[in-house]
Amino acid sequence: MLRYVTTNAGKVREALSYLDDDVTQLDFDYTEVQASDLGPIAAHGAREAYRYADEPVLVDDAGLFIDGFEGFPGPYSSYVEDTLGVEAVHRLAAAELDEPRRASFRCVLAYCDGEPFEASPNPIDRDDRTVAAARGAEQDAEETEALPVKLFTGSVNGRIVPPRGEGGFGYDPIFEHDGATFAEMSAEEKNGISHRGRALAKFSTWYAER
Ligand code: IMP
Repeated sequence: MLRYVTTNAGKVREALSYLDDDVTQLDFDYTEVQASDLGPIAAHGAREAYRYADEPVLVDDAGLFIDGFEGFPGPYSSYVEDTLGVEAVHRLAAAELDEPRRASFRCVLAYCDGEPFEASPNPIDRDDRTVAAARGAEQDAEETEALPVKLFTGSVNGRIVPPRGEGGFGYDPIFEHDGATFAEMSAEEKNGISHRGRALAKFSTWYAER
């Protein structure tokens, strides 16, 4: 059984519709290493979760990238949500940036089952060299052991607006796409166009063959 690694039940609900209910949540808080891209963070998390669970795992790492802030908060979205808060991110964007305050949500799914992969359009992350370089530190033998991870990406464009809507989670109320914020959409509507939905669609097609 595939385990969806997250402490966020909202993400699992979004994943279920793409994976025919063939997935259960693994409530495991993997180490979020510092890196400027989501890919190495998700791949590192997938290795750690696979070693912990000894079952096929799918790690989901996502963030909000604001164009006028060179992608900030990006990989630091979680930290910024916990410290500044989502409404302060909107106030900052409104104070500093001109309309339309473009942004994107991006999601990387990282899959690991301990086995190698056939080549496919979706990239494979083969070890933690990027993470080690970002840390500038030596890693212990277990962490650097090669454990291939397959990556699937999805993104959706929108703009930063004053908070609207009651649904979703995280930055959904301040992210508008096609006239509605993600928090104003039903779960199905968001799922159909979201960064996570797009990454899940690629993953589920590939996983059906696996
Ligand atoms: P993580 O991928 O769970 O680490 O999430 C990183 C940050 O992005 C957190 O602050 C989440 O609340 C936020 N986030 C991730 N996915 C979404 C989404 O679909 N909508 C709104 N916020 C999200």
